[in-house]
Amino acid sequence: MKASDIREAFKLTERGDIISFAGGFPSPDTFPVDEVAPIAHFVAASQGALSLQYGPTEGLYELRELIATRMRAQGIACSPEEVLITNGSQQALDLIGKILLNPGDTVFAEQPAYIGGLSAFDHYEVKFKGIPIDDNGLDVDRLAAYLEANSAKSPEEAETPKLCYIVPNFQNPTGVTLSADRRRKLVELATTYGFCIAEDNPYGELRFEGSPKPHVKTFDTRGAVLYLGSFSKTLFPGFRIGYVIGPEAVIQKLAIAKQGTDLCSNSFGQKLIIECARRGLLDAHLQGIVDVYRAKRDLMLGSLGEHFPAEVQWTYPEGGFFVWVTLPPGMNAKSLLPHAVAEERVAYVSGGAFFTDGTGSNTIRLAFSQASDDEIVEGIRRLGRFLKSRLGRPEPAARTSGGGAKGADLVSATCELEQ
Ligand SMILES: Cc1ncc(COP(=O)(O)O)c(C=O)c1O
Repeated sequence: MKASDIREAFKLTERGDIISFAGGFPSPDTFPVDEVAPIAHFVAASQGALSLQYGPTEGLYELRELIATRMRAQGIACSPEEVLITNGSQQALDLIGKILLNPGDTVFAEQPAYIGGLSAFDHYEVKFKGIPIDDNGLDVDRLAAYLEANSAKSPEEAETPKLCYIVPNFQNPTGVTLSADRRRKLVELATTYGFCIAEDNPYGELRFEGSPKPHVKTFDTRGAVLYLGSFSKTLFPGFRIGYVIGPEAVIQKLAIAKQGTDLCSNSFGQKLIIECARRGLLDAHLQGIVDVYRAKRDLMLGSLGEHFPAEVQWTYPEGGFFVWVTLPPGMNAKSLLPHAVAEERVAYVSGGAFFTDGTGSNTIRLAFSQASDDEIVEGIRRLGRFLKSRLGRPEPAARTSGGGAKGADLVSATCELEQ
């Protein structure tokens, strides 16, 4: 396990003059504090003892029921018994690793992939096989070619594909969405070659335009897909309530694994979310924040068009929190980062950290979710000016000393901050 010191980066991002596009946090301005305060009071007053007590490991039945009903409306046929409440969807990733993965197993991951997913599975000593993505998400044909070649190998040489990890909607870090056709094909491959799919969907409901794609799990007839959801981006992350949907037998194993980790999820938080849903706050809030994040996305894309050099490319996310930027080959986003902070007081996450094969050094992830509207315009203007000043210049060395954070610390720290 590798540690990285995030304190220096927190110090940096706390300094008022730095505009940071690094942290993929929800905008605190969207948190429905005024609505939640009376609900929290109501939960404490009306169900005090129960809401402060330990709860069942699987989660409160009422919340499992509520989630099953919502997901059935989105095409996933499931019962409450097929839902496990977790401490954020991040815990579901860890529990899936715990029950499914043996040392040496192969995990397919999007190239680039969400760092938190990679690090959850990495602890179970797996081998990652990165599958490239394009504007339509994971390149399923490349995965098929790999699987075919692997199955032709001798049992000693062949790898053991166990899990494919995907973020199908407005992916972290690139913002791209997996096409419906590829979703169907991916499930077919899982059936043919006998691996599971972890469909991690925290951003799916934050769609700004276009029609939603069917969930990968809707194509699943043999229980190969574990669907992960979360209230972190659609409501707030502080209560740490997420969930995983899968066959009941798998949910029972995940619950046993969870008992050894934390016994149960936050009882008060579960009660609060049930009450938010009962009062219609979940859907009303969602409608409001989709408008907020769409406006931020538009502002960022408009500013990129205005201020970034023509040699730089970026994605067009239809939802979620992120835009993915590709610099000309040879530019190194990681070594440029401390200079961008020092010279222009602007921070981002260098994209190389999201790749499992050491590539992607000329990529950048920008989160538009947390910065204010003014910061988006000013920060992209500064970053554009910085990139223009660096185009065609020899790469600067990463800064290793001087005031504030060290370059390397900042880079690893901003990568951690990205969640
Ligand atoms: C793709 C993805 N999966 C999972 C998580 C973890 O979210 P949660 O707060 O539900 O644990 C995040 C958080 O940023 C994420 O981006």
